Parts: sequence; C-alpha cells; structure tokens
Amino acid sequence: VSKEFQAMHDAHELLQKFYHHLLVNTKEGQHALEYLLERGFTRESIDKFQIGYSLNSWDFVYKFLSKRDFSPEWLEKAGLIIRRERDGNYFDRFRDRIMFPIHDRNGKTIAFSGRSLGHDEPKYLNSPETAIFNKSKILYNYHLARPSIKKMQHAVLFEGFADCIAADRSGVENGIATMGTSLTDEHIALLRQSVQSVTICYDSDKAGIEAAFRAGNHLNNAGFQIKVAMMADGLDPDEYIKKKGPEKFRNEVIGASLTWMAFKFLYFRRGKNLQIEGDRLAYIEVIIKEISKLDKAVERDHYLRQLAAEFSLSLDALNQQQKQMFFAEKRASAGKKEPVNKPVLIAKQV
Ligand code: UTP
Ligand code: MN
Ligand code: MN
Ligand code: MN
Ligand code: MN
Repeated sequence: VSKEFQAMHDAHELLQKFYHHLLVNTKEGQHALEYLLERGFTRESIDKFQIGYSLNSWDFVYKFLSKRDFSPEWLEKAGLIIRRERDGNYFDRFRDRIMFPIHDRNGKTIAFSGRSLGHDEPKYLNSPETAIFNKSKILYNYHLARPSIKKMQHAVLFEGFADCIAADRSGVENGIATMGTSLTDEHIALLRQSVQSVTICYDSDKAGIEAAFRAGNHLNNAGFQIKVAMMADGLDPDEYIKKKGPEKFRNEVIGASLTWMAFKFLYFRRGKNLQIEGDRLAYIEVIIKEISKLDKAVERDHYLRQLAAEFSLSLDALNQQQKQMFFAEKRASAGKKEPVNKPVLIAKQV
C-alpha cells in the first residue's frame, strides 16, 4: 500500500470518527440525531454502523484535515474536498448531511454517502470514484455481514443503507446493499466467495421490482439459488419495518419470500388483465417460455401442472408447446459462447 493510499484511508477513518462524534455528542448534530431517531434508527445501530453528521460548513473538513498534515491534493483525490476552478480554493463535499461510512470487505472506511436532511437533491450524495472506492465493486455492509452470511449460507440483498440497517436491528444480520446501482459482475464475484443463495429484498415500488427482476436474472445466470421478498403497498424494507415491526418483517417478508419462478409468475402478470383473452394467452406463452428454461424435468412438470390448473388448460397441450420451446432454448444456448449451465459448474467448484 502506497503512502498516498494510506493517507486516503487515514483521512476517512479520522473523519468517520469525527462525524460520528458530531452526531451523537454535539449541539450541532442534534437535529440530525433527532431525525434519525424519529425514523426509527436506534442508538445501537448508529454506533454499529458508525453513522455521523457533517457540519453545515464550507471548510470544516479542509481545515480539520489540513491541520493534521493531509495534503489538499490527496484530500481532493479522496473525494472529500472539491477544488473550485475559478479561484483554486477548496471546499468540503459533504455539508449538513447524515453521513454513512462505506467500508471495504476488510472493514476499512473508503467512502461516504451523505443523506440530506431536508429535500435537498441529491437525496444521497456519494463519494466519487477514487483510487480506493469503486461503487460497482463494493457491497454495503459486506464486512459486518460476512460471518453471518457464511454461517447461514445465505445473504439478503437490499437497495440501500436504511434498509440494510433496519433489517440488522430486526435480527437480519446477513444483509448487504448495492447502494442503488445495479448488481454488477464484480458484486457477484464478491458474493460468490461466501455464498450461493440470495434473497433479493428490494423496494416493492415499480423501480424496485424491475431492478429485482434484473438482479435475479443476473444471479440466476451465475448459478445462485434465488428468492425474492416483497412488501405490500410499494413499501421499502425500512418503511415496512417502521410500520409493521421486526417480527412481521422476519416472518411475513423474509420468511415468506417467493421462489424465483413464483416471482416471475407475479412479475409477468403485472399490467396484464388475465380476464382478457389476448393478455391471458400472452401471459401463458411467456410463462411456458420461462418454464422451458428450467433444467430439471421435475420442475418443468411441476410448473406446467400449476399453469394448467390455473387456466384450465390441457396438460398435453402445455407439454407439447413447452417441449418445442425447450428444444428451441437448447439450440439457442448451444449456439451461444457461454452455455446456460456453465456458470453453475463454476459456482460448484468454489
Ligand atoms: P432509494 O431512493 O430507495 O432511497 O434509493 P432509500 O434507501 O429508501 O433512502 P431513504 O430511506 O429515503 O433514506 C436506494 C439507494 O440508492 C442510493 C442509496 O444507496 C439509497 O440507499 N441512492 C439513492 C443514491 O446513491 N443517491 C440518491 O440520490 C438516491
Ligand atoms: Mn453479467
Ligand atoms: Mn428505491
Ligand atoms: Mn427505498
Ligand atoms: Mn427508504
């Protein structure tokens, strides 16, 4: 590790401690603390996740760290201060925000995300990409969750900070978050080191459901076992926990997660009126197509029967159409460079 990298890390560690101190011990941070407690964050999670508060000041960080011999050039490269083109002066990136430190897998602080207290945009201001922080390679809370993920052989994937933290205080300690970005190949490679089974628990709004579908396909193609947890009324996990409490979250959301196939049944139903013949046929067709992607004959049979029962169709007809699609799928995937089941084998070798 070079001297400059070390300085970047040290600056983050120092600031994290100071931001936390400002939040929990000072008058300046009081409104931020009240905001968090009002939202249902506990003192315990505020400590565990080292949540903090950045002062409403243009040069607090600059002065605080310059006094401690950090060079402005490196603070700028670390994303903590910004250099103004006009006069070359520096100012703080994070001002009057709730500060969520972001850690690498070893627990080193490498970035921050600052949530506005009012309706300032953006809602979350993130550190930029730096030599030590690459958002597409980092899963929030992975360093704290990893022991529990390994023990349970299972991880729960959230969208954001508040969800991960609310889940943790509800006893779901194997939670990680993608921080709003889509799930990348790097995220999947990181996960694969400890687990093969994931429950996706994204926001149950339209954007969250679409993102869950994409993340699920990505994980499925990479050979993971997937479940999808959903909440009513478009809530997100944090809102759900505040409204209904931890037990309901554990039992009726996480505990009642859908299988990947059951989620897809729901997913493809959205926006369709199955009372209408055209919609119904389109739905049946897309579901048969999904079924034909399954490798296990028993599973294909199971879902075909379910479909036949729901729409009073003849199992023979469904079977026939499914077989056509199954062989079309096989031919298509044989033509691809990466066969569908190759990632499964990779997963099993680890
Ligand atoms: P959401 O919009 O669902 O926010 O974005 P949230 O997590 O529910 O936030 P609260 O509860 O209002 O505080 C999900 C995640 O996307 C990232 C954050 O990581 C957030 O937790 N995000 C969102 C950003 O990075 N920037 C933004 O402006 C908004
Ligand atoms: Mn991919
Ligand atoms: Mn969201
Ligand atoms: Mn949300
Ligand atoms: Mn939220």
